[in-house]
Amino acid sequence: MSALGTFDSTNLNGGQRLAVKYFTVAVVLFVAQILFGLLAGIQYLKPEFLHGILDFSVNRMVHINAMVVWMLYGFIGAVYWLLEDESQHEIVGLKLGNLGFWVLTAAVTVVVLVYLFVQIGPGNDTSLWLINEGREYIEAPRWADIGIVVVVLIFFANVALTFFKGRWTGISGVLVLDLVALAGLYLAGMFYTTNISIDQYWWWWVIHLWVEATWEVMVGTMMAWALMKTIGARRQIVETWLYIEVALMFGSGILGLGHHYFWIGSPNYWLSIGGFFSALEPIPLVAMVVHAVYDSGVHKMKNSNHPALAWLIAHAFGNFFGAGVWGFMQTLPQINMYTHGTQWSASHGHLAFFGAYATINIAFFYVAIQQSRGNNWMGAGLAGAWRWKWALGLLHMGVIGMSVTLLIAGYEQSFIERAVGGSTWSAYFEAQQHPWFVQAMWWRQMFGWVTLAGTLLLVWDLLAVGKGDTRPAEVAAAEV
Ligand code: HEM
Ligand code: HEM
Ligand SMILES: [Fe+2]
Repeated sequence: MSALGTFDSTNLNGGQRLAVKYFTVAVVLFVAQILFGLLAGIQYLKPEFLHGILDFSVNRMVHINAMVVWMLYGFIGAVYWLLEDESQHEIVGLKLGNLGFWVLTAAVTVVVLVYLFVQIGPGNDTSLWLINEGREYIEAPRWADIGIVVVVLIFFANVALTFFKGRWTGISGVLVLDLVALAGLYLAGMFYTTNISIDQYWWWWVIHLWVEATWEVMVGTMMAWALMKTIGARRQIVETWLYIEVALMFGSGILGLGHHYFWIGSPNYWLSIGGFFSALEPIPLVAMVVHAVYDSGVHKMKNSNHPALAWLIAHAFGNFFGAGVWGFMQTLPQINMYTHGTQWSASHGHLAFFGAYATINIAFFYVAIQQSRGNNWMGAGLAGAWRWKWALGLLHMGVIGMSVTLLIAGYEQSFIERAVGGSTWSAYFEAQQHPWFVQAMWWRQMFGWVTLAGTLLLVWDLLAVGKGDTRPAEVAAAEV
């Protein structure tokens, strides 16, 4: 074990060293996501900005692809992080896992460069295989899809084999089953049909079933493990909650898929199925808040890593509000008929992805940093604590601010374009010229800059937090 307070890879086990690589790329892509989001936001205000050089369609695509990829990097990193600890066994196939990381990262880099250099082209098989598959959020071309599947199989083998050789627990069992579902669903986004309704039908299998089922279960397992580590919650309790949450999540989320089938040409029964089941989706999210707050309260919030616990709590609430409340608002078909395709969805999209998934990944970055420095104290009296507090505050102010402005714009669109204007072509433009819409877009951009400030402060803090602090976590905890 090396000196406390300095970053040293000997503080980490094999899986954790690999996790740090995944986390590092995740942070880089997070910053990229924000920068491309800002460019797309400026183009809402000044449509001629970078026109023909870096069009809105490209900025938007890179913005949301960077998001999906950094969050997946965060999840993969988190699983590698807890793998040896949870299985009580050395990771199996680490060399292959490392190779997988480099292959995946090279592929991501090439895909993004191609997006930026080849922005326009014919919609044929060559484009599909080499440039862009054209499915929002998962636009990666087919060659990269195949590469991703191979790397994910390696990752899966690492995880499953390590648990087989070590021990199975409630958390690891749920985790491995979830990974089968998560990877399997990706295949549904890889084939291509010429019928747009059928294409959308399958595409939602990936997007909805990922974020509202398998990703939610993934963060459920991450939360269970993290609560044991940060506040010493009992395994029996977190695992019982995990089972309840998973049952509720799948029970409502799988058929909740129907809320994307309202208007794409699927059969009418989806209106009732989607409306009913997706209205139940917030229930497990309430359970998650109760669980996190209850556990933290029982342990009197005592822990040696304040930033990590703060971001875990932010996750519980962000998931509930962003996904649960903001999703519920527009999920009944009677309401969705007016809100569909307005900034209302973008408001929910921002608050949900940030609240549910950015937060918990950031919590894991802080867990990783503490361990990388020999598990030193990061609780009360942490030097430079203003940085993580301001980063957390600015990021929330920025994202909540953007979500509120987008909601105002979406409300105005639903009203002027849909309710009053009857969804005509001219009403569509009328709604976008209305002062509420125009001003909301300016305010969105302002809050975008706040988000950027929070992000940069977060990166600074991730590099600096706990540096040089040589108090071991256990000793300092006993003193406090
Ligand atoms: C963390 C979980 C969630 C994330 C990350 C998420 C994210 C998103 C995103 C990005 C969209 C826009 C998709 C597009 O490009 O068309 C969307 C749409 C939607 N979400 Fe969620 N969501 C989550 C959970 C929920 C929940 C729990 C509900 C319901 C209670 C919900 C209800 C909806 C509805 C109804 C739409 C469709 C809007 C429309 O097309 O009119 N979401 N979601
Ligand atoms: C500087 C901050 C940001 C700005 C200026 C920004 C701006 C934008 C813009 C202009 C779009 C395109 C909307 C459209 O097509 O009409 C977009 C889409 C999106 N952004 Fe951001 N964004 C920012 C940060 C974030 C963050 C932090 C997240 C989540 C973690 C996020 C998630 C999304 C999602 C999910 C979409 C697709 C929404 C949909 O299709 O409904 N963005 N963003
Ligand atoms: Fe959905």
